[in-house]
Amino acid sequence: MMRILILGSGGRECTFAWKLAKELPKENIFITPGNAGTAAYGTNLNLSILDFEAIGKFCLDNAIDTLLPGGEDSLVAGIRNYFESNENLKHIYVFGPDKTGALLEGSKEFAKKFMAKYGIPTAKYQSFIKGEETEAKAFLKTMNPPYVIKADGLAAGKGVVIPETLTEAENCVDEMLGGQFGQASSTIVIEEFLKGIEVSFFAITDGKDYLLMPEAKDYKRIGEKDTGPNTGGMGAVSPVSFVDETFKNKVIEQVVKPTMTGLQNEPFGYRGFVFFGLINVEGNPFVIEYNCRMGDPETEVVLPRLKNSLSEIINKAKNGTFSEIVPQLDERFCTTVMLVAGGYPGDYEKGKTIEIGSVTNSIVYHAGTKITDGKLQSNGGRVIAVSSFGETMNEALDKSYSSIKNIHFDGMFYRKDIGKDLQSKFIRCKG
Ligand code: AMP
Ligand code: GLY
Repeated sequence: MMRILILGSGGRECTFAWKLAKELPKENIFITPGNAGTAAYGTNLNLSILDFEAIGKFCLDNAIDTLLPGGEDSLVAGIRNYFESNENLKHIYVFGPDKTGALLEGSKEFAKKFMAKYGIPTAKYQSFIKGEETEAKAFLKTMNPPYVIKADGLAAGKGVVIPETLTEAENCVDEMLGGQFGQASSTIVIEEFLKGIEVSFFAITDGKDYLLMPEAKDYKRIGEKDTGPNTGGMGAVSPVSFVDETFKNKVIEQVVKPTMTGLQNEPFGYRGFVFFGLINVEGNPFVIEYNCRMGDPETEVVLPRLKNSLSEIINKAKNGTFSEIVPQLDERFCTTVMLVAGGYPGDYEKGKTIEIGSVTNSIVYHAGTKITDGKLQSNGGRVIAVSSFGETMNEALDKSYSSIKNIHFDGMFYRKDIGKDLQSKFIRCKG
């Protein structure tokens, strides 16, 4: 039976562990570093997700056969390459792309070139390197405001700037190419601004076939009505009301299928999750970004809706029988509301005592939590995600909001308007 090590410490990894704990004995599940929630589903370790040597040694000493990286950092740093190139470790199956495949997320320019090559709809763009400031500014003059300027590499979610004026955009070019994000902004991408509503799709793939998971919408801004600074995500809903059959079919035909063809065609042997960050522009999908992992908090609403066994999916990818999988999705709505520390995404305090009373109608996924001296405490900006099912989105949201009344920590904050923008449209897309 599978013995799996999950890398990460967020709500996403807690959801993976929760799902796997339904399928595997607790003794077979390990999480590093994990959080107070994952400890209920497996064993937390104290290894850095970037210390490949220590992870490899632990896997060998504990007969781990599968690694599931939650976030992009270890994938972009090449954890799969590390395992595959080591004689003692290569039997361990890393369920994620290698270093090159992970560039789909790790380099905006790489992703743009991939989309151009496979005819996938995305915003028009050009990329520039240090020394090409003049050309970059000339390109800006050919565009209409607002301007979209992106650092090529990973910049902790801060690498996309959308200035309203040309002067601000020009300054941004100078700052980024001047080293604002170090190596990550030594190349920049300038692209056309797309106006529409964002929605995320997710696929799991073995590199040949794919399984499309439910779509989700996340709420990135800290403030209600999408105001204030960006966060890691304040809540999510799935399914998404404006994703009707027509739009979904366009996503499959114009985005998912050509992406999968491309991933099969490229020599890097992609496998794992593909996260399609899309924007719906007047009924047509455009790719804003790819991620080489699941989203957080989207995982907290997508994974509960996946009825298939996750360990079986991974096993079938490993042994070449992935195409046998028949996707089974829960038709109900799932919503999650993220409880965050006061001050987040700016400065915030950790170490607040968390009280969780009786929660029977929701699933409590831990994110930034830890146990200190036997007490549950906050340990990050995003602290707990409260997910619920409902026959309607409102029923699910009502359950999440009512469960939250039984959870408390000093400074706790959450958005009270998750899903509110979708209220007027209740078209339901089955499947
Ligand atoms: P990214 O890191 O590429 O997902 O960009 C972060 C956010 O910037 C996205 O979630 C969008 O809200 C916004 N964004 C990125 N690219 C564009 C674009 N071309 N047009 C409009 N908004 C964009
Ligand atoms: N919630 C967005 C992300 O995981 O990137």
